[in-house]
Amino acid sequence: MTRVALAFSGGLDTTICVPLLEEEYGYDDVIGVTVDVGQPAEEFDEAEETAEALGLDHYVVDAREEFAQLCLDSVRANASYQGYPLGTALARPVIANAILEVAEEHDCTGIAHGCTGKGNDQLRFEAVWRDSELEVIAPIRELGLTREWENEYAEKKGLPVEGGNEGEWSIDTNIWSRSVEGSELEDPSFVPGEEIYEWTQAPTGETEEIEIEFVEGYPVAVDGEELDAVSLIEYLNEVAGAYGVGRTDSMEDRMLGLKVRENYEHPAATTLLSAHEALEGLVLTQEEREFKQLIDQKWSKKAYEGLIDAPLVSALEGFVAETQKRVTGTVTIRFEGGQARAVGRDSEYAAYSASHASFDTETVGKIEQEDATGVAKYHGFQRRLANESIARLEGEESVELTTDGGTEE
Ligand code: ARG
Repeated sequence: MTRVALAFSGGLDTTICVPLLEEEYGYDDVIGVTVDVGQPAEEFDEAEETAEALGLDHYVVDAREEFAQLCLDSVRANASYQGYPLGTALARPVIANAILEVAEEHDCTGIAHGCTGKGNDQLRFEAVWRDSELEVIAPIRELGLTREWENEYAEKKGLPVEGGNEGEWSIDTNIWSRSVEGSELEDPSFVPGEEIYEWTQAPTGETEEIEIEFVEGYPVAVDGEELDAVSLIEYLNEVAGAYGVGRTDSMEDRMLGLKVRENYEHPAATTLLSAHEALEGLVLTQEEREFKQLIDQKWSKKAYEGLIDAPLVSALEGFVAETQKRVTGTVTIRFEGGQARAVGRDSEYAAYSASHASFDTETVGKIEQEDATGVAKYHGFQRRLANESIARLEGEESVELTTDGGTEE
């Protein structure tokens, strides 16, 4: 008896994978696995109902805490890719590992997903699964199936799908972000209406301020109330979403090279990233901030690729952890005009001295204004000499040209 574990959502793609894994790949038994990374309840109902109608053994794994923790790790690295805080990307390795565990527990010899051959998720899932001995199967991609064919097949087989039951768009939701793509959104010039948004309201002009407390780069409390990772993210999605915070509309460069038009909502992510950067701005030195941008960008790219377990990421994490030792303090965020703007920050580790920077007093600490005179004399010194050389060369050139005769002007 051979068994295969399938990443199962109850949508059209994964539903038709169930009979296909038996018919086309010869497996005797299929089990479906859904991993909870904070999708809305309806998605679990859909998966549950469809599994039941298919007679599919269905397992749900709760990975919300693990995933939320990873999201907060990503805040320490100011992680985003082309304006997208990586919700789907960060979730995939978590989901892939959870499914692999269920597959191994149930003596599966195969493991399958319903991704097409165009997106990023196939790569992220398989990077994890191909570390194992299991046969990795991607029926939609391998059989070259189209949406049209799938719908016909489902109808012929009497499979429990309500003709394109995912609605007009392709949506992926977890606690960190909600993405909407497909249908008329595929036209980059198409201006979507409010109906594509579910987490965010159009900004009304109203504002609100909240205070976020960080310990070593991790957000731990909002307005004085300590919250665990999941609750903190859920809470911020709600408050910030009400002010229209965290909408992104971008042309995203996928790993395979295709561009895709993506719309995202991520109110908590935007709020936390904005607050975290503001606190780093207070406590880190200029050169740490500058260098950390490179680290953050690399971290984000590896997260986008679904490769956060790469050795490079551990090395980057070392730098992140070292810098975050001082990223402790509070930030006041104002929700205003669809933005989460840092309007105040405080830390006992500030690399800042009001008495040194102030314009108000004449002599500040041991620094006096005239101390800067010497620095001012040397600032830009090499460039002054170099520019003089350039002017001399240009002068010689024009002299040469005129004495040569022939050349005009
Ligand atoms: N483009 C994003 C990513 O690769 C999100 C894709 C989400 N999928 C969807 N069906 N909306 O991470």
